[in-house]
Amino acid sequence: MQVKILPRSVLVGHERLAVRAQEVLRHNDMGGWTRAAPELYPHQWSWDSAFIAIGLAHLNTRRAARELESLFEHQWKTGKVPHIVFNPEAQPGSYFPGPDHWACAAASPEAPPAPPYTSCLCQPPVHAIAALRIWEVAERNGGEEAGAARAFLREIYPGLLLWHRYLLTYRDPEGSGLITIFHPWESGTDNSPRWDTPLAAVEVSDLAPYPRYDLQHVANPSQRPTDADYDRYLWLVKLIKKAGCNERSIYRTHPFLVKDVLFSAILVAANEALLTIAGLVGAQAEDRTLIADWIKRGRRGLGRCRNPELGLCLDHDLRAGRALRVHTVAGLVPLVAGGLRPWHLAILLEALRSSSFIGYPGLGRPLPPSTSPNDPGFDPRSYWRGPLWPVIDWLLWWALERAGENQLAERLRESSLEQIAEEGFAEYFEPFTGEPLGSKEQSWTAAVALDWLASGPRRKMLAA
Ligand code: DGY
Repeated sequence: MQVKILPRSVLVGHERLAVRAQEVLRHNDMGGWTRAAPELYPHQWSWDSAFIAIGLAHLNTRRAARELESLFEHQWKTGKVPHIVFNPEAQPGSYFPGPDHWACAAASPEAPPAPPYTSCLCQPPVHAIAALRIWEVAERNGGEEAGAARAFLREIYPGLLLWHRYLLTYRDPEGSGLITIFHPWESGTDNSPRWDTPLAAVEVSDLAPYPRYDLQHVANPSQRPTDADYDRYLWLVKLIKKAGCNERSIYRTHPFLVKDVLFSAILVAANEALLTIAGLVGAQAEDRTLIADWIKRGRRGLGRCRNPELGLCLDHDLRAGRALRVHTVAGLVPLVAGGLRPWHLAILLEALRSSSFIGYPGLGRPLPPSTSPNDPGFDPRSYWRGPLWPVIDWLLWWALERAGENQLAERLRESSLEQIAEEGFAEYFEPFTGEPLGSKEQSWTAAVALDWLASGPRRKMLAA
């Protein structure tokens, strides 16, 4: 990747951090796409790539665009963007379940040409948000770059529209505005207590022994999901493959069907970005009406998931027919979906500031743990059961800025940057001590740091 030096305004006070973030992305760059992390995740992950594109935009808008284009080259005919595109050159035995495990997905009539193989799951749709970010940065830079970004938007728009259409049809046959996931991996928040109850109801039978390569790449296995979780993850994969990766069959027979509020809220925000893109590329009026309807449908759906007692939005287990009452950061996501009435915004801000999240006594920094320390499932060192995740903080920061809550947004941005500057580009962090956990040199952590560095109030003052 051709790396350019960030503008002076971005670097003031943060030169070293910006340079280190660039180095992480350069090291993980595989040409037209970026490994999520050098060891633990040697392939291209869908929502990682979208966040990575947001960061790359500040280094090289064309390379950022390429990140999304390369992912969308493996889009399924249904419109699904696969959660992993496997790197054929990754070391055998570096990641499980790898390309061999997923090879049969390529037999689906809807699958893209293989190799490279893809999984047949998907992940939260941050892509349209990333595409728009690339265009915004390129417009600011002007000249040929702006023209190239417009051409990129024209090229990627049909794929983005198809992707969102897939989610709002195959994954929402009920027309609820809420997206159904078939596997905790689709949520991107794998072992969150959000999934404990529906996962406990999954009965695993004949599962062949399998390796846990992931445990080799973390300092302590307790930072990753347990073996009991993994048995269920692999059992669900087995059932999905048995159903030929066909959504209608999966819907009929699958034991894990959950309406995911984080996924659904990101889709609303992504549809807002898509609506702007539709305007920029001169898409037909019907498209714009459709996308605007999707936004309304998503917000209505999320509104129905509100638990007044907790002040949070809850996932819904379709199989059991009930809301999943857990206290996690996902409960705050109507903030991400936006368009809130003042009373609802106030409730969510109060929940974010409360002793359930950033006001919890003893936190190292005012950043929300992924699971509230008040939740019985909280574990400060285990993946999505408590640690801080910079990408979640980025989503909340971005949402707060859009809601005009600049002071709180700035607090999140500064605290997150301090955290990363002190502890490095970890995948996640212990919320009381700030200890870096999980994978090191995680691409999306570097990417959101770059976006934060380029988005500070100082930069805005200089730009004004
Ligand atoms: C993993 O391997 O931990 C991923 O989250 C699955 O996509």
